[in-house]
Amino acid sequence: MKVEFADLNYQYKIIQRNFKKNFSRIIRDNSFIGGFFLDEFEKKFAEFCKVKYCLGVGNGTDALEICIQALNLPKNSEIIIPANTFIATAEAVVRSGHRVCFADVHYDNCLIDENKIENYINKKTSAIIPVHLYGQSCEMNKIIQIAKKNKLKVIEDCSQAHGALFMNKHVGTFGDIGTFSFYPGKNLGGVGDGGAIISNNHKIIKKCKRISNHGRLKKFDHLVIGRNSRLDNLQASVLIEKIKYLPDWIDRRNFNASLYNKYLDLKHIELPILSSNRNHTYHLYVIKIKKRNLVKKLLNKAGISSGIHYPNSLDQNKIFNKVNKNPAIISNYLSKKILSLPVHESLSKNKLIYTCNVLNKIVRGTY
Ligand SMILES: Cc1ncc(COP(=O)(O)O)c(C=O)c1O
Repeated sequence: MKVEFADLNYQYKIIQRNFKKNFSRIIRDNSFIGGFFLDEFEKKFAEFCKVKYCLGVGNGTDALEICIQALNLPKNSEIIIPANTFIATAEAVVRSGHRVCFADVHYDNCLIDENKIENYINKKTSAIIPVHLYGQSCEMNKIIQIAKKNKLKVIEDCSQAHGALFMNKHVGTFGDIGTFSFYPGKNLGGVGDGGAIISNNHKIIKKCKRISNHGRLKKFDHLVIGRNSRLDNLQASVLIEKIKYLPDWIDRRNFNASLYNKYLDLKHIELPILSSNRNHTYHLYVIKIKKRNLVKKLLNKAGISSGIHYPNSLDQNKIFNKVNKNPAIISNYLSKKILSLPVHESLSKNKLIYTCNVLNKIVRGTY
């Protein structure tokens, strides 16, 4: 049996009729950059997140860079991010002329440890970027409290957490601004790169809009050094169809997670932890096991794809001129134990049970 990590064909089949119709309209109207679908999608995504404003941009990495620029942080300042995240979060900080400070994470949910953040704050610190990794929100009450006390900006990296809530409020709406990626494999993904920025602050969103479109809001009104980072009308036309199904797809991912929780051998496998006051969108279902690399190899032999998010704690990567001297101990430890299992919305129960049976045998040493 083959168990894929993702199945984007399934999503495409559901939307293909409308997708073709939308595509014809784009061709007919010659509206490739900006246009009806982009305007509609920005409205729909803002409604979905229960936030006032949404701006489509080129991808999730650009979204972070644009936000950092828009917030006008002091040059060469320090920005705190978790050591366990995708490299883009750190790249955006460094490419924006700031220094990255890697904070350690919780062992249980793998998210930035809000209780340790203050240890990393000094006079040069300007912002925190909590990352709502795997589909679960960070502890936003505490993070916002720390940011207020220390006069820091908060940019929420929600690239893996479309639809994730903390105390019933959408991620991306707690801090100054939130960023999303619509990379095809995300819970809400396009047919190419895409991203978005959300905020309740009109001034900040307007500034982001200017930066993302060559420093202008109107033709030739270039007031700041900007860039070209816009969400294509074509990507928006796909996202506007897929967002209709997102709540259902998140439910299915939750159902799959509940089956894993039921069938995996708890003696040998540590399940993902859902922390209090939040939901989980299970962009990734991440377990912790011993001999992770060997287990992954054996799963692969049995036709089961899995992933590692992430195999190296970012504070160990020499390309970052990091400010903190000590390693992020828990993040480093986790990077050797974590394994992401297939959890996508079209995963059949048969394939899931097969995965559990094979994995249970591997970890019990009977495979
Ligand atoms: C946590 C996180 N931040 C940022 C990004 C960057 O998004 P993109 O690939 O759209 O640039 C990703 C994408 O994988 C991500 O997972």
